[in-house]
Amino acid sequence: MRVLVVGSGGREHALAWKLAQSPTLTELHAAPGNPGIAALAECHPIRADDPESLLGLARSLEVDLVVVGPELPLVLGLADALRRFGFLVFGPSAAAARIEGSKSFAKEVMAAAGVPSAKRLALARPPCVVKADGLAAGKGVFVCRTRAEVDVAMRALSGSGGDIVVEELLSGPEVSLFGICDGREVRALVSAQDFKRAYDGDEGPNTGGMGAYAPAVGIDPSAAEALVEEVHRPVLAELSRRGSPFVGLLYAGLMMTPDGARVLEFNCRFGDPETQAVVPLVDGDLLEALAAAASGDVSGVSVESSGSAAVTVVLAAERYPEDGHRGGAIHGVADAESAGALVFHAGTALQGERLVTNGGRILAVTGRGRSLAEARTIAYDGAELISFPGARFRRDIAAAAVGIGVDR
Ligand code: AMP
Ligand code: GLY
Repeated sequence: MRVLVVGSGGREHALAWKLAQSPTLTELHAAPGNPGIAALAECHPIRADDPESLLGLARSLEVDLVVVGPELPLVLGLADALRRFGFLVFGPSAAAARIEGSKSFAKEVMAAAGVPSAKRLALARPPCVVKADGLAAGKGVFVCRTRAEVDVAMRALSGSGGDIVVEELLSGPEVSLFGICDGREVRALVSAQDFKRAYDGDEGPNTGGMGAYAPAVGIDPSAAEALVEEVHRPVLAELSRRGSPFVGLLYAGLMMTPDGARVLEFNCRFGDPETQAVVPLVDGDLLEALAAAASGDVSGVSVESSGSAAVTVVLAAERYPEDGHRGGAIHGVADAESAGALVFHAGTALQGERLVTNGGRILAVTGRGRSLAEARTIAYDGAELISFPGARFRRDIAAAAVGIGVDR
């Protein structure tokens, strides 16, 4: 199979790394890709948010499957455009991608499907959570415990012009659960936990994610299957009933409250950085699974995981998420790999032969082990071997899960 991966982050590097191991792969292409992906695939300088050029690229390469990483091109209709020209696509139509693109649409679908979510509130009164309705790149959610926090949220979001959703403030551990969907059926991948806040102890602003581990504590394969039955299948049935079946990766962001699981959000694509922890644990052939879903039948697919664990630590620029860093020399990637870590590129570039920083989240370092503690040691030992100006990472990824304090 000739495959095109769309995107340029750590998520896409992890996907490319796994797809490259498939015996059915003949050619791997990426647009635009990154220097890490370039070691596995031919990279083409076309941006993920340029659907017309991507369609032209898919046609000229005569690819058999397109795997779309980020949400924006999906919400803009890239999968529809590709399907119109007969391409197999792993990624939902614009109509189905609204499950991520509009929080009020997601709530409407969940209500119709009987899926438990945070209750919508009519008034923004603390405690509550105030959210931008549309895509906000992780910056649209404000957890408000005081009146002053509500005021800050309302000011920030009313300036953005879009609609606002207010919901009840829930508490409990969060779980990211990915389902590979063919429009009707779903196969769950191993559960994960994301670390969204910028600093140790869940302090500081929300980010795209500073680390992850898998499987999430308490969510073994049978618990994951129960959640998929409660959440993913009813949503798939409802989207299908509305004439917009979901083909691609349905990511449920869940909070495990004392009253049971509640959906905080859906994403219409793989999570970043959870993918960098989840995908290395998949035993089966991911390419076969994605192609089967894109063809409309996952019934023969097995994406079981090996029973081991993974921890991913994101190495970010000093000022991330406010700002990124560009042009700083990166050292130590090969050393981290020799020490047993997987290093996924997220915001890197090549200046001649030199690998340099090029973004907010620069690299994601994953350790795998028979236990979470072992995986964590490998990830952190790898992270310590890498350096660039202002490099920063959280020290407490998966710390609570392995039963230790913030200092590892
Ligand atoms: P979202 O993008 O909707 O997943 O929200 C980002 C983060 O905000 C989540 O990962 C939670 O940590 C937090 N959050 C969102 N909704 C709620 C809620 N209803 N109750 C408590 N925390 C929430
Ligand atoms: N890690 C959260 C996300 O991908 O949205």
